[in-house]
Amino acid sequence: MVPSVRIAPSILSADFARLGEEVRAVDAAGADWIHVDVMDGHFVPNITIGPMVVKALRPHTQKPLDVHLMISPVDGFLDAFAEAGADILTVHPEAGPHIHRSIQRIKALGKKAGVSLNPGTPAKMLDYLIDEVDLVLVMSVNPGFGGQSFIDSQLRKIEAVRKAIDKSGREIALEVDGGIDANTAPRAIAAGADVLVAGTATFRGGPAAYADNIRGLRGS
Ligand code: DX5
Ligand code: ZN
Repeated sequence: MVPSVRIAPSILSADFARLGEEVRAVDAAGADWIHVDVMDGHFVPNITIGPMVVKALRPHTQKPLDVHLMISPVDGFLDAFAEAGADILTVHPEAGPHIHRSIQRIKALGKKAGVSLNPGTPAKMLDYLIDEVDLVLVMSVNPGFGGQSFIDSQLRKIEAVRKAIDKSGREIALEVDGGIDANTAPRAIAAGADVLVAGTATFRGGPAAYADNIRGLRGS
């Protein structure tokens, strides 16, 4: 049974010169989580923000800060992001070197642990992780940039992950990230997603449009 969908605006598409205001605006517009894309120019071909920015944003919202780490190696930064105020820390198996160890560390820091699957990474990667994680993030674009097109083959992976989660009997969020808009959102939800990340589709049109944009993604 899939609970009602949560929307996590990716601040990658926000106005970086006004980041605090942007976070407050999407919070007020109905965002459930705030999705923070951390990129290092090495694991992915783009550089974004670090723990200092997460710390600076923390006082601007009470909503969970959903921090998506696209950095390699990742382990040396887990403590810094936890201390900065992240609520959820999501890591990629390929960012290693040891995904299981990274997840254990995140949990030891008292944070929710997520594992993210790139478009080319099979759902089978979860076999020995599903009993440890609080969230599975299915990437529906290759990580690195906002504004890319949803990769349809990932719908099958979302279905497979939904089955694995239900079989586990554990409470695990199934988040989908990349190319989510009013057309792809219902397809991701039908496949079993319960958290949708949306950058372009949330921030399009400026602050006056955020509430409608978020409503449109919920399909209400
Ligand atoms: C891509 C990021 C996404 C991205 C989504 O590497 O993980 O969160 O910002 O952007 P849109 O919604 O524009 O595809
Ligand atoms: Zn992301």
